[in-house]
Amino acid sequence: MEVKTSLLDNMIGVGDMVLLEPLTEDSFLENLKKRFDHNEIYTYIGSVVISLNPYRSLPIYTPDKVEEYRNRNFYELSPHIYALADEAYRSLRDQDKDQCILITGESGAGKTEASKLVMSYVAAVCGKGQEVNKVKEQLLQSNPVLEAFGNAKTVRNDNSSRFGKYMDIEFDFKGDPLGGVISNYLLEKSRVVKQPRGERNFHIFYQLLSGASDDTLKKLKLERDVSKYNYLSLDSAKVSGLDDAANFRTVRNAMQIVGFMEDEMQSVLELVAAVLKLGNIEFKPESRCNGMDESRIKDKNDLKEMCELLGTEQSVLERAFSYRTVEAKMEKVSTTLNVAQAYYARDALAKNLYSRLFSWLVTRINESIKAQAKTRHKVMGVLDIYGFEIFEEGDNSFEQFIINYCNEKLQQIFIELTLREEQEEYVREGIEWTNIEYFNNAVICDLIENNQNGILAMLDEECLRPGTVTDETFLDKLNTICADHQHFESRLCKNSKFLNDHSLPHNCFRIQHYAGKVLYRVEGFVDKNNDLLYRDLSQAMYKANHSLIKQLFPEGNPVKVNLKRPPTAGFQFKASVGTLMSNLQTKNPNYIRCIKPNDKKASHVFNESLVCHQARYLGLMENVRVRRAGYAFRQGYEPCLERYKMLCKNTWPHWKGPARQGVEVLMTDLQVPAEEFSYGRSKIFIRNPRTLFFLEEKRKQCLEDLATLIQKIYRGWKCRSHFLLLKKSQIVVASWYRRYAQQKKYQQVKHATTVVQSYTRGWQARKLLRELKYQKKCEEAVTTISAFWHGTQVRREYRKFFRANAGKKIYNFTIQRIMQKYFLGLKSKLPSMSPIDKTWPARPYSFLDGVHAELRRIFHLWRCKKYRSQFTEEKKAVYEEKLEASELFKDKKALYPNSVRQPFKGDYLEISKNPKYQKLSSAVDEKILLADVVNKINRANGKGSPRLFLLTKKNVVLADQKTGQLKANVPLTDLASVSTSTQTDGFFALKLKEGSASAIKGDFLLSSDHLIEIITKLHRISSMAADREKLNIDISDEFLVQFKQDKVCVKFIHGSPKNGNSVSCKRKNNRLLEVSVPASS
Ligand SMILES: Nc1ncnc2c1ncn2[C@@H]1O[C@H](COP(=O)(O)OP(=O)(O)OP(=O)(O)O)[C@@H](O)[C@H]1O
Ligand SMILES: [Mg+2]
Repeated sequence: MEVKTSLLDNMIGVGDMVLLEPLTEDSFLENLKKRFDHNEIYTYIGSVVISLNPYRSLPIYTPDKVEEYRNRNFYELSPHIYALADEAYRSLRDQDKDQCILITGESGAGKTEASKLVMSYVAAVCGKGQEVNKVKEQLLQSNPVLEAFGNAKTVRNDNSSRFGKYMDIEFDFKGDPLGGVISNYLLEKSRVVKQPRGERNFHIFYQLLSGASDDTLKKLKLERDVSKYNYLSLDSAKVSGLDDAANFRTVRNAMQIVGFMEDEMQSVLELVAAVLKLGNIEFKPESRCNGMDESRIKDKNDLKEMCELLGTEQSVLERAFSYRTVEAKMEKVSTTLNVAQAYYARDALAKNLYSRLFSWLVTRINESIKAQAKTRHKVMGVLDIYGFEIFEEGDNSFEQFIINYCNEKLQQIFIELTLREEQEEYVREGIEWTNIEYFNNAVICDLIENNQNGILAMLDEECLRPGTVTDETFLDKLNTICADHQHFESRLCKNSKFLNDHSLPHNCFRIQHYAGKVLYRVEGFVDKNNDLLYRDLSQAMYKANHSLIKQLFPEGNPVKVNLKRPPTAGFQFKASVGTLMSNLQTKNPNYIRCIKPNDKKASHVFNESLVCHQARYLGLMENVRVRRAGYAFRQGYEPCLERYKMLCKNTWPHWKGPARQGVEVLMTDLQVPAEEFSYGRSKIFIRNPRTLFFLEEKRKQCLEDLATLIQKIYRGWKCRSHFLLLKKSQIVVASWYRRYAQQKKYQQVKHATTVVQSYTRGWQARKLLRELKYQKKCEEAVTTISAFWHGTQVRREYRKFFRANAGKKIYNFTIQRIMQKYFLGLKSKLPSMSPIDKTWPARPYSFLDGVHAELRRIFHLWRCKKYRSQFTEEKKAVYEEKLEASELFKDKKALYPNSVRQPFKGDYLEISKNPKYQKLSSAVDEKILLADVVNKINRANGKGSPRLFLLTKKNVVLADQKTGQLKANVPLTDLASVSTSTQTDGFFALKLKEGSASAIKGDFLLSSDHLIEIITKLHRISSMAADREKLNIDISDEFLVQFKQDKVCVKFIHGSPKNGNSVSCKRKNNRLLEVSVPASS
C-alpha cells in the first residue's frame, strides 16, 4: 500500500518558508540555521528551493534517494533538489511545458553542483537505451570540459565558474533526451593575464602542465614547471583536494566522449600553450629618433615558439606588437606602440585568444550534442549563472555591474513569472485575484539598460565618442544624466544630494539594487567595455597557418574589413541577456537559490550575518512575501482530505462523495473562519500559515489518539490471538491428556476385566475340575464299587474254592506289610542321637507295644554306646565318678539332683599354685585328689569353722584355712563310714574306726558345698583299694557321731521359715545336735 506522506511530516523548523510564522528576517534565518544544523540543506519558498552549501558530501544523492523522489509530488517529501528536478521533468514530459531551472547564488554557494545534481537526476529518471544513453553521457561529459576551461580556483571557491552558463536540454515527446544547446555568458577573461592574490588561472593551464605526457609537452614546447610562465600565479598553483593531473585525463576522456577529434584536441592544447607562451613575451622600451617611444621584444625565443605553435610568421606578429594601424575611410595610419601599449596588446591578444577558444569549445560541444532529429522537442534549460556580487569597500567593477544587471533582470523575470503563475493559478481555480503589493525592480533595470539614458548606453556612448575618453568622463556623464534617478547615487551628482556622503568615494557610483546597495568603482569600465583588440593582431592571427586560429579571428580577414567598431562588451552582454530573458519567459521557471553558509568552505559552520547578507541580495524575503501575498498554502482537495480526514467524524475513515465536498464538510466541522480559506476548482487555498498549523496540530493530536486506538486494537488482537492460541494449545493438551487418561483407565478396566475374567475362568475351570474330579471319583467309586461288587461276586462265586487257606495267607501278608511299613516309618522318624533326647515315635499299632519299647531301649543303648565311644580317659573317669555318685545318692539325698549339673573339679583351691599351701602340699606326699574348704562343725556349739580339706588316695587331711597348718591327717584305712542326711544340706560325718589312731579325738562333723563329690571320691578310693573294705555310706536324718567319749545324735529337721534359707546347726543338749535344713533348698 502506498503511504501518503507530506512535506509537513517530521519537519525540522518549517520546510516551506511560506509557512513561517511570524515572518521576520530573524525567524527566517533561525529556520534556515535550525534546518542546516540538522543536515536539512534544502528549504522551500513555495516552489523555490533554497540550497545551503554543506561543504561536505551528504548521503542524500544516492540512487535510493532518486527512486524515493521519482514520480512523487513536490510537497509529498521533505525539501530536496530532486523534488524540484522531478517536478520540472514531469511537467515537461506530461504537460508538454518547457522548463527552465534558474540557479543563482554567490560564488561558492553551490550553483554548479546544483546544476549537475539536476542533470544527473534527470539523466537517471529519463528513458534508457543505447542512443539515449550516449546523448546523456555527452550532455553530462560536457561539464568537465567546460569546467576545465571556464573554472578557476578563487578565494571563494576552489572550482569557481568564471562564466555564466545556460544549457538547454532537449527531450522528445516520451521524455528521452535528444541533445542540448549551451550558451555561455561573459567569461572572466581578465583572469587569463592576471589573477588576484590567492587565486589561480583557469584550471586547464595547470592540468596541462601536470597531466600531459612529456611527449605532448615537448610537442607543445612547454615545460612542466609552472613557475616558468608569467600568466600562472605561483602562490596557489597547488590546490589541496584538486588533482590536476587526474583531472586532465578526465577532461581528455570527456572531450573524446563529447566527440572531439584528436587533431581538434591537439589544436586546443596548442592554443592553450600559445597563451602561456604569449605571457612570457616581454618588451623593452626603445626611443626613436622622431621622439616617439617604441617597444622591442626582449627575448624572441618565446615569440618564435609561439609562432611555431600557431603557424604564424614571427615577423608579422612582431610587427603587430610594435605598431597599431588605424584605418579610416580608405586611409591607413600606423602608429608605434610604447611598452605599456605593447603589453596591453599582448594581454588583449591572450584574453581574446582564450575567450574565443572558450566560445569555440562551447560551439563545438553544441555541434556534438545538438539534437539530431528535426522533430518538435521540449526543452529544459538549466541556468548556472553568477549571482549578485557585492565586494566590500567598493571593489566592484564592470564585471560586477554586468553580473548584477543580469540578476536584476532575473529578479524581474522571477517576479513577473511568479506573479503571473500565481495569477494564472487563481484564475484557473476561480479564485478572486487580490492585488499583491511587491517591489518591482523594473525601474532599476531601466536605469541600467535604457537605450537612451541607461548606464550601459551611456558607457557605449562614451566609448564611441571621439576625443579623450576616460572612466572619469564616463562618471561625469552619469552624474549628469542619472542625477535624479532614485536608485542612482554619486558624490558629485548634480543634485548634490550625496555631497557629504563620505561612504561614497569620488570615483565611484552606487546603485540601489533590489537586493541592496552596490558601490561601483568606475576604473576600467571604459576599457573593459571597449574590449579592444588591435586590428593588426587579429589580422596576424587570421594569417596563421592553424585551422582553429583562423576561425577564431574572422574579423582579421582582410577581405572582410569592417571599419565599424566591434560591439562593446556591455552591448553584447545586454543583447545576450535580452535573448536569455525572452527565452526564459517562454518557459516555466524553477528556482534554486544557493546560499553559502560561511566564508571558510567549512562544514557545520553557519555564519548568520553572511547568510543574512545573501538572503537579502537574493531577495528571499521578498520572494516569501510575494508567495504569501494571496494565499500562503494551497493543496489539492484529495491530498487535503486524505491528510485531515481524521479530524471530522463525517470524513473519517472514508468519505464517499467528491473530495471537495469532503473538505468543505471538514472545514465547517472544524469551524475554520471563512476568510482564512477559499475553495478553488481543484485546490483549497489557505490564507495564513497558522490555519495550516492549526490543522496540523489537530492532526497530530488526532494521530496520537489514532495511534492509541490502533495500539489498543492491536494489543487486544494480540492478546486475543495469544488467548486463542493458548486455548487451542489447551484443547490439544487436554485432548492428549484425556486420551492418555482414558487409555490409562481403559488399561485399568482391561486389566481388572482380565483379572475378573481370569478369576471367573479359574473359578469356572475349578468348578469344572471339581465336577470332573467328582465325576472321576464317581467313576472310580463306581469302578471300586463295581470291583468290590465284582470281587464280592467273584469271592461269593469262588469262596468255596479257597476259603480253607486263604485267611492265613492274607494274614501273613498283611502282617508283613504292616511290619514293613512300621520299620520303614520308624527309620524315617528316628529321634536325634543325643542320649538325653526322650522323644520316640508313637506306636502305630498296639500289638507292636513290646517291639516298640524294646526297639526304643536298644536304640537308646546303641546311641549311648555311640556317645560313650567318643569319650577321653579323663572324661570317662569323671563320668564314672558321676555314675558312682548317682548310684550312691540318687533318690537317697535331696542334694543330689543339684549336684548332677556341677562337674567334679577335685582341686577347688589350686593348691599347688597357692604359696600359702606350699608347706601343706609338701606334708601330703601323694597326689591330691580333692582340695576344698569345708566347715568343721564345732562339737560344743555347732558353729562351723573353715578348714582346708585335702583328699589323697590314702589320707584325709584337715588344715587351717588361713595358715595352712595341718590339723588332722586321717588315713583312709581309719575311716569306718560316712554319714549324711537325706536332705539338701552339706553336712557329713567322717566316722572313724573305733580304736584307730585317728579316733582319739572323735569323729569329724563337716559341712561342704561339694558333699556329693567328696563322699563319692572317698567311696571310690576305698572301693578301688584292694586292701580295704568298701566304705560304708549311711544316709539318714539321724545318726550318731562320736565326739571324744560322747556319742551325740545329729538330727536333721526341716527348718522353720523364720530361719531363712540357711542351714543352721545347734547343740540342743549333750546328746543332740540339731541341724535345721530349709525345706525348699
Ligand atoms: N550539495 C552539495 N554537497 C556537497 N558539497 C557541495 C554541494 N554544493 C556545493 N558543494 C561544495 O561547494 C563547492 C562550491 O560549489 P560550486 O562550484 O557549485 O559553487 P558555485 O555556486 O558554482 O560557485 P561559483 O559561482 O564560484 O561557480 C563545491 O566544489 C563543493 O565542494
Ligand atoms: Mg559554479
